[in-house]
Amino acid sequence: MSFFLKFFKLLPPELSHSLSLNSLNILYKLKILKFFIKKPLHEEAFEFVGIKFKNRLGTAAGLDKNGDYINSLGELGFGFLEVGTITPKAQKGNSKPRVFRNFKENSIINRLGFNNKGVNYLINNLKNRKYKGVLGVNIGANKDSKGNKRIDDYLVCLEKVHKYSDYISINISSPNTSGLRELHNEEELKNLVRSIESKVCELNITVPIFLKISPDTSDKVIDKLIEIVHKSCLVGLIATNTTTDKSNIKNHNFRFIEGGLSGEALMDKATDRLSYINNKVKNLPLIGVGGVISRKDYQFKLKAGAQLVQIYTGFIIKGPNIIHEILNN
Ligand code: FNR
Repeated sequence: MSFFLKFFKLLPPELSHSLSLNSLNILYKLKILKFFIKKPLHEEAFEFVGIKFKNRLGTAAGLDKNGDYINSLGELGFGFLEVGTITPKAQKGNSKPRVFRNFKENSIINRLGFNNKGVNYLINNLKNRKYKGVLGVNIGANKDSKGNKRIDDYLVCLEKVHKYSDYISINISSPNTSGLRELHNEEELKNLVRSIESKVCELNITVPIFLKISPDTSDKVIDKLIEIVHKSCLVGLIATNTTTDKSNIKNHNFRFIEGGLSGEALMDKATDRLSYINNKVKNLPLIGVGGVISRKDYQFKLKAGAQLVQIYTGFIIKGPNIIHEILNN
């Protein structure tokens, strides 16, 4: 695996992403993927928000936006997968280049802008999946949807995906869709949550719904956000998405790249927000994400209050062996 990893790192980021995941798919289809993978041995099954998990480590949204790699990612040993962000209509996202890897600092900056093939395409993949593990779907709004149309986008996705997912994540925190983060504001969030609640009642939706939040939020905003979530049908929070704050990046060339920063340079900020939420309100289901590159980082997230932990950048940098490293040492 390490030879392939070195090779993929030489390729442009998006090509590397699709080639490496398509290679996993080929190995899966040939039924030989399992021979390349060190399976996690140390698994403690447990229950969280009414769902049984075989371990606490999962993929973060964005890694498999369209559900094209569910079966192969599922075979690597993750305790759960989150696919998406998916929007009602397919969209191309921002112009390229839009993903920048900083291997020296174990970080990535992306401004993809929800490039995805649309919710119907994902549903088809969800229906045909062989993977039997836990699967969450992260939903968002199309770039050209504003105001109430933006809220409708979440409702359309919710209605379509709820039958095929174990949990749903409402993404209000991508920095690459203009105005999306305004949904952290009290009135806008209340409006979104109210609309989701009526859809949940209307369709009798029973899957747990999480809100995925930004790390670039003040204590005051988080306090309000917790209050709104606590009073609503939403079950918990996913903390956090990428940050627009590049001050932690040492390489000046990267500091001025527009987009959301993930990986090591995000760890402190994301964990700080997670721990703030956990100290503010005990027993709120929390999924921790942002900056996990090692087992130590994973343990930090759990100590800070996460019951589940997700990775994206760590998986890109270390490859599938990171699962073994995190769960087995
Ligand atoms: C992301 N992330 C992301 N999040 C989300 O909710 N929807 C998405 O579509 C994407 N897309 C995406 C693309 C790329 C290239 C990256 C690097 C990240 C954010 C991701 O899910 C996660 O919250 C952050 O990356 C922080 O975790 P890591 O990467 O530090 O483990």
